[in-house]
Amino acid sequence: MTAILTRPAWTTDLEVEIFDKLLDQYAPHLPKARSLASRPPATLEERENFYHFRVAGAAHDLFIVQVCAKVIGMLPDAELQLFLSRQIGDDGAHAENTRLRAQAISGRNPIPDIQKQVQKHWDYMGDLPIRNWQGFLAFELHYELHIVATLFLNSRTSKINDPDSAKFAAERIVPDEAVHRLGIVDWWQRKFAQASPAEKEDLIAQLLEADEEGQRRRNPYLRDHWLLSQKAIGVEIDDLPVLYDAWRRQVLAYFLDVPVAHLPQLVSVND
Ligand SMILES: [Fe+2]
Ligand SMILES: [Fe+2]
Repeated sequence: MTAILTRPAWTTDLEVEIFDKLLDQYAPHLPKARSLASRPPATLEERENFYHFRVAGAAHDLFIVQVCAKVIGMLPDAELQLFLSRQIGDDGAHAENTRLRAQAISGRNPIPDIQKQVQKHWDYMGDLPIRNWQGFLAFELHYELHIVATLFLNSRTSKINDPDSAKFAAERIVPDEAVHRLGIVDWWQRKFAQASPAEKEDLIAQLLEADEEGQRRRNPYLRDHWLLSQKAIGVEIDDLPVLYDAWRRQVLAYFLDVPVAHLPQLVSVND
């Protein structure tokens, strides 16, 4: 694989630029910005669907907290530990806000449902996130970076949202998540920069293998979650598999510092 000599820093502007290029290529009919305002869930059925969508959101964040809390003492890297301590605090706050909104919307305590969903993440991911640093990095890629194509589509095409959740997301979640993504890029780049050319080849192979395992493990969850998102918030999901796969290739090419075309064929979300 040939290294690219100059590449831009990973920023939220670069993310939009990459995603919009993918839209032009794979789904030019989808919007580049939100055109319709979303509305709160109205009927009993809409509130119930929205509740399950929020429970899934809280479980995603709480699973991140649980994994990072286990790993923070396992990897003796003070810079990484400082980053993880922030991620634990942020994603814990996101899970807590989402839990409270789910409670307000449904009138019931969502903790048992959230716990059940967090357990599902542990069941399908197995020991990958806590096996070694490669597995943990693959977990971070899947839970923070590979999902970005889905987040873009949600933010542009969803029809139902809760105003309080939307406000918290805009003020807190969106900026926090950008910090998380940049922190993961930074951790990997520090590790990669210190490696010799021969070690770099090994690191690339190890990361790809762990990331592919993560994709195979996550596929049934992702497909179910997208159906729930369509039902609960009316997001456009027809083009999501192709956009998800293409976005993931872009992220991995950036991480591994190779042109996208030089990556091997990867596991698809449809596999
Ligand atoms: Fe989060
Ligand atoms: Fe996060």
